[in-house]
Amino acid sequence: MTTPTIELKPSANPLSAAEREAILANPGFGRHFTDHMVTIKWTEGRGWHDGQLVPYAPLSLDPATMVLHYAQEIFEGLKAYRRPDGSVATFRPEKNAQRFQSSSRRLGMPELPVETFIEACDALVKQDQDWVPAHGGEESLYLRPFMIATEVGLGVKPANEYLFIVIASPAGAYFPGGVKPVSIWVSEDRVRAVPGGMGDAKTGGNYAASLLAQAEAATKGCDQVCYLDAIERKWVEELGGMNLYFVYGNKIITPSLTGSILEGVTRDSLLTVARDLGYEAEEGRVSVDQWQRDSENGTLTEVFACGTAAVITPVGTVKRAGAEWQQSGGEPGEVTQRLRRALLDIQRGTAEDVHGWMHTL
Ligand code: COI
Repeated sequence: MTTPTIELKPSANPLSAAEREAILANPGFGRHFTDHMVTIKWTEGRGWHDGQLVPYAPLSLDPATMVLHYAQEIFEGLKAYRRPDGSVATFRPEKNAQRFQSSSRRLGMPELPVETFIEACDALVKQDQDWVPAHGGEESLYLRPFMIATEVGLGVKPANEYLFIVIASPAGAYFPGGVKPVSIWVSEDRVRAVPGGMGDAKTGGNYAASLLAQAEAATKGCDQVCYLDAIERKWVEELGGMNLYFVYGNKIITPSLTGSILEGVTRDSLLTVARDLGYEAEEGRVSVDQWQRDSENGTLTEVFACGTAAVITPVGTVKRAGAEWQQSGGEPGEVTQRLRRALLDIQRGTAEDVHGWMHTL
């Protein structure tokens, strides 16, 4: 497979420095986008071609473009951080590139070479590096690589043309309340993914499937929905867009990858960071009954959510049909805060990168 070169066509009309700085002062999450994007095409018989770094702009798609009908789409999320010396680095981009390949296989799409994925992210961050927020705060530049089926037609089959795109968005805290504990509604009737389905692929369909349950969580006064397994409706899987960790004193546990859970890069990194800090870190099964019982008897000391967008967010109130309880008195727990600090220190370049996770540009 040949790697396409990425040709630069710079924006003739980028935002002014003053406009950009105004956005960076309060970016929110996913509301503003940088001046450029990378696009690479794939065509059957030709492979990857026409890599371009072009001005950020709307796409023009035929109404019969396949992705609009059958949702053959995958995406990723990773972040670029400003380091104390002003340089910029991304966190474990090869993990996202590998997961992108595995999502491609699940959805019958072509696999983008890992080095092309990383090169595309690097090219965009280099071009728009003034959009990477200053070192020292919570903010970073969120990269959103994605791929859509662009063949035109209504036959249900894997498309013969695709478009890979990377866009970038300066990002603050994912939840509007910042790093305050979030509340969780445990959905016992709606499921996110089934065995043999595509729950372990990062595809828009999984997120579409989560929206109704997420809206139900909001009607219960909660920020996020938590899904249980589809068969026994008993085992905790993940939240609408992030993984979960349970803290039992000195031990942290996250649900095992059963095939219907997304393999989060933050989830994976925390298994290592926690062991580095002297905690026991395990993958295992936690039932919702155990979650409630152990919170009530005090052995389950903290719960937190994790993901690229959410980083590590403490869980406060938990509700399920007929019950409600609080984790760590509704305050961020000590272990949660320690892990959060340790991970962010590596990502922002203020702690030694002993595992070689940071990719400098
Ligand atoms: C991420 O954490 O990068 C996600 O993809 C979660 C969400 C914003 C979809």
